[in-house]
Amino acid sequence: MIVSVILAAGEGKRMKSSFSKVSTKILNKPMISYIFSAAKNSGSDKICIVAGENKAYLEDLFKGEDVEFLHQEVGPGLPYGTAYAANLASPFIDDCDQVLVLSGDIPLIRAETLSKFIEFHKNGGFDTSLITAEKENPFGYGRIVKDENNVLKKIVEQRDASPEELQIREFNPGIYIFRGDLFKKHLKEIGTDNDQNEYYITDMIEILSSNGKKIGVYKTCDNIQVEGVNSKDQLFHLEMELRKRVNVDFMKEGVLLRGEDIFIEPGVKIGRDTEIFSGARILGNTSIGERCLITGDSYIKDSIIEDDVVIKSSYIEQSRVEKGSDMGPFAHLRPNSHLKEKVHLGNFVEVKNSTIGKGTKAGHLAYVGDADLGENINIGCGAIFVNYDGKNKHRAIVEDGCFIGSNANIVAPLKLAKNSFIAAGSTVTTDVEDGDLFINRAESRHIKKWVYRKNLKEEK
Ligand code: UD1
Ligand code: CA
Repeated sequence: MIVSVILAAGEGKRMKSSFSKVSTKILNKPMISYIFSAAKNSGSDKICIVAGENKAYLEDLFKGEDVEFLHQEVGPGLPYGTAYAANLASPFIDDCDQVLVLSGDIPLIRAETLSKFIEFHKNGGFDTSLITAEKENPFGYGRIVKDENNVLKKIVEQRDASPEELQIREFNPGIYIFRGDLFKKHLKEIGTDNDQNEYYITDMIEILSSNGKKIGVYKTCDNIQVEGVNSKDQLFHLEMELRKRVNVDFMKEGVLLRGEDIFIEPGVKIGRDTEIFSGARILGNTSIGERCLITGDSYIKDSIIEDDVVIKSSYIEQSRVEKGSDMGPFAHLRPNSHLKEKVHLGNFVEVKNSTIGKGTKAGHLAYVGDADLGENINIGCGAIFVNYDGKNKHRAIVEDGCFIGSNANIVAPLKLAKNSFIAAGSTVTTDVEDGDLFINRAESRHIKKWVYRKNLKEEK
């Protein structure tokens, strides 16, 4: 059986944050969820997560998943370090298991890489294996120390390394497989004789190598997959890389991305020939159809956008937009809005918890909240659906073919029956029947030369 142990209890001091490091998001997903998926899809039979103060957060994040959570208490004076953390999983490991240990802070590792690593370990008949990589200056990483015959001897941490060891370019990304019996036997022998007085899992390598165990070294060239996140600038670097990779994958599927600054969360679905410009952010459980146009600064989250929709610099959350509709610039769909086919929303139109029927138009500066609108309705500039009385929200119903004049207030609850006509500036508080005109304005007064008679200005 393969048991994955993900270490996620560390304090992440170098992040200078009050949040748990592994909860920090990369492309809108917590770092730990990438590692979790990679472990799950790599062929692990069981996953243990060593959590610290973030235990409740992690339990909630992986609710419904088959995970064993272990708790490491962290704080001044308490034992600390990757070996101590990993050892907490020992009670869940059988002697004949293979234990894949992963850090919670290497988010770009792919499941396929882990599967290949597991294969390498099994096929080579190794007692223990680790992934390594090489770079010009592996600052901050443990260095891979080999003897003159190129045989792995130990891993030395940056802060404990001699000047010669610091010259080594091969580094330890922190991904290992241990035979279960060796994991359980030797982890607890590790001490804290190092610069940080911590229990280092990397000491396992020296212990196993001096016990004559067979250690497999699986070297990868794809460094980005094994880079760790210890600080916010490393996070930035990895996010930019991942963003590029995700975007290239979309382009391979026929999506046209124009510009670099496009932020798409992995898992979003986008149809071919949809064109997306710089500044767009597309997140969560969103699917976008074919031939859509999405211009800069648009934000779309947890929404369904059908084919041939145009979205110009607009903000959409938990909504559905049917084929051929268009909106913006600066339209706002708040949760539970549903635009049917060929709806047009112009600039500064906000819709919330409403359905808008086919062909209905709201060209400028309107608010449609808690309303059910039929087809081919014209909503004038500045029209407002007054849905809140200070205590309760109410719904308005507007049937097909109505005309709502500019600056009208539609005070819910009410129903405007089909083809009714609301004159500009009217405040409607009652139902209006089929084909009626509703007009409500204060009586006009038009007083000749009032400004001059009041001496407000001099008449010339
Ligand atoms: C570790 C390795 C280093 C390697 C690097 C790769 C050790 C001693 N060093 O260093 O050789 O190059 O990873 O990224 O292992 N954690 C706990 N409990 C603890 C301490 C840490 O759960 O008591 C977790 C952290 O949350 C983190 C992971 O273990 O996810 C690694 O810890 P971190 O402090 O980031 O180790 P590095 O200093 O990066
Ligand atoms: Ca780290």
